[in-house]
Amino acid sequence: MRIDTGAGSILTDPWVNPAYFASWFPFPDNSQLDWDSLGKTDYLYVSHLHRDHFDHEHLKRFIDKKATVLLPNYPTSELEDELREVGFTRFVKTVSNEVIELDGGLKIMIQSLTSPTDGPIGDSSLWVEYDGIRLLNQNDARPTDLTVFAELGHVHAHMLQFSGAIWYPMVYELPESAKAAFGKQKRDRQFDRTWRYIDDLKASWVFPIAGPPCFLDDELWQFNDIFGDEGNIFPDQSVFLREYRAIGRDNGVVLLPGSVAQLSTEDCTVSHPVPDLDDFFAHKEEHLREYRDRQRTVIDAAKASWHRPEVDVLAELKRRVEPLLEESIYLAKGVGGPIRMDLLADDNDTVAQSIVVDFPEKQVREAADEKVRYRFRFRRSLVESLLASGEVDWVNSLFLSCRFSAARIGQYNEFVYAFFKCLSEERLQYAEGWYDEHERTVDTEDVTLTDRTTGKAWQVQRRCPHLKADLTRFGIADDGTLTCQLHGWRFDLESGRCLTSVGHQLRSQPAEAPVAAE
Ligand code: FES
Repeated sequence: MRIDTGAGSILTDPWVNPAYFASWFPFPDNSQLDWDSLGKTDYLYVSHLHRDHFDHEHLKRFIDKKATVLLPNYPTSELEDELREVGFTRFVKTVSNEVIELDGGLKIMIQSLTSPTDGPIGDSSLWVEYDGIRLLNQNDARPTDLTVFAELGHVHAHMLQFSGAIWYPMVYELPESAKAAFGKQKRDRQFDRTWRYIDDLKASWVFPIAGPPCFLDDELWQFNDIFGDEGNIFPDQSVFLREYRAIGRDNGVVLLPGSVAQLSTEDCTVSHPVPDLDDFFAHKEEHLREYRDRQRTVIDAAKASWHRPEVDVLAELKRRVEPLLEESIYLAKGVGGPIRMDLLADDNDTVAQSIVVDFPEKQVREAADEKVRYRFRFRRSLVESLLASGEVDWVNSLFLSCRFSAARIGQYNEFVYAFFKCLSEERLQYAEGWYDEHERTVDTEDVTLTDRTTGKAWQVQRRCPHLKADLTRFGIADDGTLTCQLHGWRFDLESGRCLTSVGHQLRSQPAEAPVAAE
């Protein structure tokens, strides 16, 4: 998206080339835009380092290096380092939640989220004000609430994520019926969370952005939401509009690549590059098929580059991962057991090698006949490629590619993915420090929530045990279960047990009946 104002333009997250081992492509296709002129921008804002936001090749080729980068405040310097490597030299280093006035009266504020589960250790939102018009590009960031933006005055345009951006539940080896049911739950939760944010901010206009991606490789084609499957987690902008209208709202605005929305304090007028928006979405499958044909050579070339026979996977994993296991306290304890990687031969999908990352023993070794907590099936060439390039974030590469399958015993374990995001000393140290601080912060405030089904009142801790969302805003108690809508985690109110992930006990007890007045 490019935001044009009388005091300059801000280009945000220009993503065009496929991300994550050529699995995600922008939807709809935006490669035909006039990037030479779009790239002549005064400011550049890259919200975070996920590859569907940070497109190295595109930034290098098309974006004017004289642009000033509006930089979120992150605990590691990776985003700045990568932008400098691309060729940018001018930076405005922001402080989270502090408004900055740029030339010509253009005001901006960037909120940075920095928990190990936020993006690649960091995600952010951009607030902009010019000439009395305010805009929040919330992007795919998940702030615990939007109060800090609302307090700066009425927002006219709210851009936010509404679709899925993860591998769950598609990659899990589950019966199709279970996968469909989990997918449907997830799709519903995504919309619930979006409505919650929209209700929080009460902007004049709401723009569904930051997703969904589309999948053009034949191996992943089934992930596109074109089969009428209500368990698909990648609904598109037209589905957003339909669902949003179904809850009685009429201020949703869909943009295609090349659409222009003209915003005033009173109005929003939009022009599109196609004569009929409904017609465009009605022919989505056709669009995807043509897009796939245009990108086939790109996908084939990517696939041909993955195999790196010179890499000894076990030896290299040992060398890189064992020192990190040795230093890890919280992540290793959180994972709590061994994880197995089955590496599949490229040509016939048989298991060529099985390797265990043993968190309690702090070892990487050949797998024995043993029970493991998580078991992943990766194509060996993908792992070779990650090791050859020294990738430190396997979430921002392998996992988001959805090019794997997984099985687990028991609940989701966020520490598993947090660890694979932190395969560098710098990241690991940060994550360990964050969990340490998180653990020590005693959260003493309680609130009362009423169960919507039973009418029973519960006294629970105010902040969600996951990432501290305010449960008076995000918590819904229903039939003995509390759901925090920020990430959809569920807790049994009777026992306080987290039903979504290991650990994360909720403090909860029946609220005392009010003492009758004498
Ligand atoms: S903060 Fe993530 S589920 Fe509550």
